[in-house]
Amino acid sequence: MGALESRRDEQIASKYRKGNSIVLFAGDCIDLLRDIPDDSVRLVVTSPPYNLGKSYERKGDFDKYLAWQDKIIEECIRVLHPQGSICWQVGNYVHDGEVIPLDIALYPSFKLRGLKMRNRIIWHFEHGLHCSRRLSGRHETIMWFTKTDDYLFNLDTIRVPQKYPGKKHFKGPKAGQFSCNPLGKNPGDVWVIPNVKNNHVEKTVHPCQFPIELVERLVLSMTEPGDWVLDPFAGVGSALAAAVRHGRRAMGAELDKEYVSVARQRISQANSGVLPVRTMGQPVYDPARSGKSLTTQPWPKDENQPIGGQFVLLDSAMAKYKVKK
Ligand SMILES: C[S@@+](CC[C@H](N)C(=O)[O-])C[C@H]1O[C@@H](n2cnc3c(N)ncnc32)[C@H](O)[C@@H]1O
Repeated sequence: MGALESRRDEQIASKYRKGNSIVLFAGDCIDLLRDIPDDSVRLVVTSPPYNLGKSYERKGDFDKYLAWQDKIIEECIRVLHPQGSICWQVGNYVHDGEVIPLDIALYPSFKLRGLKMRNRIIWHFEHGLHCSRRLSGRHETIMWFTKTDDYLFNLDTIRVPQKYPGKKHFKGPKAGQFSCNPLGKNPGDVWVIPNVKNNHVEKTVHPCQFPIELVERLVLSMTEPGDWVLDPFAGVGSALAAAVRHGRRAMGAELDKEYVSVARQRISQANSGVLPVRTMGQPVYDPARSGKSLTTQPWPKDENQPIGGQFVLLDSAMAKYKVKK
């Protein structure tokens, strides 16, 4: 019986206690963190509020926000296993049109406590708000820090298909041998993963939930089965569900009662193997390649436009993907 099957009927505890395997705390993460022993969590993965005034937060003084985050980060570092990792996923704080990247603002909270950054992963997604006074934001970052140099990282669990698997060394002592790793290649630090909007199979009531596959890459490479994964800002439980899907122990805190209830349901579904997910590694949907009728321009060509307007863009896109007109 696999780790997943053996845990199907497990209860979701509402408080941390030694011996539990899944904990969903309905309250302030600082209260959950206080109960967790030092050096016990292998992976902290989270996306905190950005102080933007979204439905689940109140926009306040930015320095106070940073001080609040600093306090929580300090506690997360205390509970982190010496071989463990913290992945803090953030975007931008925007005030009066000025963009302040939160990774830059929060970096000192980790660095000044002796943690070392291993990657600053760019999460690129294709959809979001359209800006008119700056470029539309289409990426956020994941700051990956470790507590020591002796950290766990299982690259083989997250390799992706090679671009040219048949490529061989053409000179030197290895001439004629395949040059790439048969297990696949390192996925790199730019991850193209759709965000969870509209008709995404994982969409819930939460406006900013993690795609499960984004967390899965971190869980698989930075933890072993049975390790604790913690999300202090659990939302609808995506990180916990990703952990449970791979036989890890999972805990998280969430203030909003509705999100807690959805999280509870999703974790149970993950535990039973029935949670709807977008499969890890699935190629990103490309409407032009799929021949979607909506990719055909509906407006007449306007010769008066200085550079041919949208036609020029669409024609070059069509040529790129060799779509038959
Ligand atoms: C960006 S969302 C995280 C969404 C999550 N990654 C998911 O996949 O659903 C941040 C969440 O933190 C919650 N939150 C805000 N302050 C909190 C606190 N002090 N303790 C616990 N949760 C909090 C919010 O209600 C919100 O759901």
